[in-house]
Amino acid sequence: MKTDVAIIGAGPAGLMLGHLLRQQGIGAVVVERQSADYVLGRIRAGVLEQVTVDILNELGLGNRMKQEGLPHEGFFLADGERLIHIDIAELTGGSKVMVYGQTEVTRDLMDAAKDRDLEVVYEAKDVALHEIDTERPYLTYQKDGQEHRIDARFIAGCDGFHGPSRKAIPDSVGKTFERVYPFGWLGILSDVPPCNDELIYANHSNGFALASMRSQTRSRYYIQVPLDEKIENWSDDRLWDELSIRLGPEAGSRITRGPALEKSIAPLRSFVFEPMRYKSLFLAGDAAHIVPPTGAKGLNLASSDVAYLSRAFVSFFQDSKTDGIDTYSQTALARVWKSERFSWSLTSLMHRFPDDGEFGRRMQVSELDYIASSRAAQTAIAENYVGLPL
Ligand code: APR
Ligand code: PHB
Repeated sequence: MKTDVAIIGAGPAGLMLGHLLRQQGIGAVVVERQSADYVLGRIRAGVLEQVTVDILNELGLGNRMKQEGLPHEGFFLADGERLIHIDIAELTGGSKVMVYGQTEVTRDLMDAAKDRDLEVVYEAKDVALHEIDTERPYLTYQKDGQEHRIDARFIAGCDGFHGPSRKAIPDSVGKTFERVYPFGWLGILSDVPPCNDELIYANHSNGFALASMRSQTRSRYYIQVPLDEKIENWSDDRLWDELSIRLGPEAGSRITRGPALEKSIAPLRSFVFEPMRYKSLFLAGDAAHIVPPTGAKGLNLASSDVAYLSRAFVSFFQDSKTDGIDTYSQTALARVWKSERFSWSLTSLMHRFPDDGEFGRRMQVSELDYIASSRAAQTAIAENYVGLPL
């Protein structure tokens, strides 16, 4: 098979990129090692920046998001009994975020692929990259007992943190930057109404908690847990009890309990790989960077990467211009690092760090005092939360 861009990974990055290219008549094929159901079974975050909303609308795939998504104009930072409201719409001249699950974004992109002539090969095993340092790279993969080959002009590595693309870049070229946090997030999804109409990020002496949602009838909550915590130590009741404590008396008293549809623990890390391009290979999304989920930036950075990359590929294939592809890594990384900083900053502010002692806690209290009293401080948080411009 021959195409213009071979895309590895049918997560949000790979599917958004594939659709954006096909919409411009550029050849694209996506190869995904899992089944579609497996990809959709992953529970991920659910706050969309305008860049993600714009891509779905630009693709004409935003109808369900408009019907089912929840536009949010603010969120809360809770510190004990103190609640600080960040009025993102007022502070940013009207910008909002859209609460709409990543799973639903992925489903909307998957469902539209066939009608839009975007080929997605699921259950493609042993995907391997070849001759990425030439202008004739290709992929091979195994499926139905046969080896398949896709020749392309470019390969887009949208294969997440554990995929093969980043690892195909020579060690002499790549550089990684990483911070692993000394805790994880235990998350629960349950068909109960949210305890609050906006998200609450709480810093409690027991640890961080987040009250989020998927709809008016489905809630998503998280608590900070030690890295070695085991999910079997957390019955639903124990988790609901802890959330009631950490979210503070007002919100905690409004929690509706219900059975867990999903309950899991995920580690937190900040990670960036530079460069995001090597010859004919381009990285986008989690393949190049990871953020702690505190700032809800993971999906939205995948969106900004593919917004830049799709424009670069369109310029190359339609106008034979290379300035977009030549500057892609630098352009994408400039926005990546700003989101990495915001995600690290909000994680540092709202979590309890076992080794930071009393001085570290005083730094958190004084920063929250400053945020509570400063429009400038709240504006800085608001404009980062809604997403910096492309
Ligand atoms: N061959 C083919 N596909 C692969 C391979 C491989 N060897 N390795 C990984 N993949 C697939 C994964 O199965 C997954 O479906 O690549 C896809 C990568 O998708 P994501 O991990 O969702 O990454 P991305 O599309 O960049 O989206 C980033 O997803 O994980 C969340 O928190 C993250 O919100 C962020 C968003
Ligand atoms: C979620 O709803 O899963 C969510 C929301 C906001 C975050 C992280 C996760 O910052």
